[in-house]
Amino acid sequence: MADIETFKQENRVFAPPADFVKNATISGMPAYEALCAEAERDYEGFWARLARENLQWQKPFTKVLNETDAPFYKWFEDGKINVSYNCLDVNLSNGNADKTAVVFESDDAKVTRVTYRELHRRVCHFANGLKSLGVKKGDRVVIYMPMSIEGVAAMQACARIGATHSVVFGGFSAKSLQERVIDAGAVAVITADVQVRGGKQLPLKSIVDDALAMGGCDTIRNVIVYKRAGADINWVEGRDLWLHDVLANQADECEPEWVDAEHPLFILYTSGSTGKPKGVQHASGGYLLWAVLTMKWTFDIKPNDVYWCTADIGWITGHTYIAYGPLAVGATQIVFEGVPTYPNAGRFWDMVQRHKATIFYTAPTAIRSLIKAAEADEKIHPKQYDLSSLRLLGSVGEPINPEAWMWYYKNIGHEKCPIVDTFWQTETGGHMISPLPGATPQVPGSCTLPLPGITAAIVDETGHDLPNGNGGILVVKRPWPAMIRTIWNDPERFKKAYFPEEFGGKIYLAGDGAIRNKDTGYFTITGRIDDVLNVSGHRMGTMEIESALVANPIVAEAAVVGKPDETTGESICAFVVLKRARPTGDEAKQIAKELRDWVAKEIGPIAKPKEIRFGDNLPKTRSGKIMRRLLRVLAKGEDITQDISTLENPAILDQLKESQ
Ligand code: PRX
Repeated sequence: MADIETFKQENRVFAPPADFVKNATISGMPAYEALCAEAERDYEGFWARLARENLQWQKPFTKVLNETDAPFYKWFEDGKINVSYNCLDVNLSNGNADKTAVVFESDDAKVTRVTYRELHRRVCHFANGLKSLGVKKGDRVVIYMPMSIEGVAAMQACARIGATHSVVFGGFSAKSLQERVIDAGAVAVITADVQVRGGKQLPLKSIVDDALAMGGCDTIRNVIVYKRAGADINWVEGRDLWLHDVLANQADECEPEWVDAEHPLFILYTSGSTGKPKGVQHASGGYLLWAVLTMKWTFDIKPNDVYWCTADIGWITGHTYIAYGPLAVGATQIVFEGVPTYPNAGRFWDMVQRHKATIFYTAPTAIRSLIKAAEADEKIHPKQYDLSSLRLLGSVGEPINPEAWMWYYKNIGHEKCPIVDTFWQTETGGHMISPLPGATPQVPGSCTLPLPGITAAIVDETGHDLPNGNGGILVVKRPWPAMIRTIWNDPERFKKAYFPEEFGGKIYLAGDGAIRNKDTGYFTITGRIDDVLNVSGHRMGTMEIESALVANPIVAEAAVVGKPDETTGESICAFVVLKRARPTGDEAKQIAKELRDWVAKEIGPIAKPKEIRFGDNLPKTRSGKIMRRLLRVLAKGEDITQDISTLENPAILDQLKESQ
């Protein structure tokens, strides 16, 4: 999707509307530049000031940044804090107690509202309930929950007692869940009987049962089950508990566990280019600081806003911009259980209208699929809805192509809402490069400029700065408070993946390519430079999918590449060699279906290859290396014009053109 030539030619510029600038938290470019200059002048002083002004510390920090063990940086390390206290208790004494914290809308459009006072009470019950089961500071708790108030409360309850949560997205399979439970060494899983999306029930509890039955999860003592729909489920006496029983008779107050700023708030698994998913470990103080600052800077959050981030709590966006950020700034937010296409593809616009949302944050894939739907059906076109409450739009997770940007700007924002195209990653904790809505002139398809204090740059393969106008490797030169601290259980992999020696070991390698505009210095992300795909804004490692395929007894070899896709950004294309003769016709279709289902079982439905192509072999060099660049060309359906003289078996290319 991120066709670099299109971006290079993009010269439309949209200045922030004057009304917006007038009231913005960061108002006008000089205000942005002043913050950048402050950070440059005194980096630690800048962060220390913000951390003092924006967070409540139980014990103030005296140290700001500790670089002695680089790249294992520490921020505010002698300060004591509690994230849940900052998200909830703070709002009980600052006038927000009776303000709506969450407007929850279920899949079937039932609306439940909770105030900050009520959310605080529920989180305290939950925290006390966890404590009554022996969960304590430092323990890991896996959360496998639908989008719900209970899901957010589960995360906050862990934070309250100093337990480190690891949320696993409800679309991951039993096997993926088992691997994460084992790697984290979790003591409990919090789940629901089912998750309801698009009118269908997905059995979460039975997936947990399957995961734990696969073995190796001996650290798990309890499975806590939120009754979402009263579905039939199996029950393991002694291990399984209903959430409502755990919460019954718990006290309304739970003294927060004050933890060091560096205490791990959560682990979130994400795909890398090699091996199994990485447990990205985040700290407490620095992470929360950035969540708060970016809510204020990027989202310009104000007391009367009705903020809506459509992400799932199973991804980083749902952590920073649902479970933590909005609460820490006392915002009112919408939490949505369902999908954008149910009961029809007007659901998002209908919800914006009914709840009078003012800030709307979603992924380009959702926008692109809703464009298609709106073009196909006038009745659910956004013009049928009153979207006048909106004042700011956001995009996240993948590059947004200029056409989708323009559609969003015109049809949803009515040319009066700035769009913040926020570039960031699971590892960065929060936004890194993004327009500030009351300051930065926007250019469709560009995430514009780094936030104040973020030293993003573009370098070549040796780590040297490239002048603007050249494409290169995106890096961040100095540590920032919300950055990943390590990979859980694998500090060596952390160093290798993010701070490689080739780049001097001290600059953060994002794994993306980028280019800066010659004149403006604006960044455009050109996509991953490793073997990570981005499908519908979800990160998938090609190696992970390949390993899943070759784990099937009929598969001899597999290679997976990404293919540009109009709606999902990229789609998964798998080239497969079977241990038996290459199938054709109906047999090939049947086996392709079996393999797709297999991948769904091994990883989850999100990893299913859209296309599978069978060959007697894969294109290889004489030394046996698979020539992936040729596979990428084949996947796109283009003719091979590259030099194939080093190819051992050129005849194979023809076979691999046919997809199943
Ligand atoms: O390739 C970039 C892409 O998503 C990757 C991070 O994925 P994940 O850790 O799952 O986090 C997604 C939500 C923050 C990045 O390495 N990406 C994310 N945002 C953008 C983006 N690519 C282009 N533009 C963006 N705004």
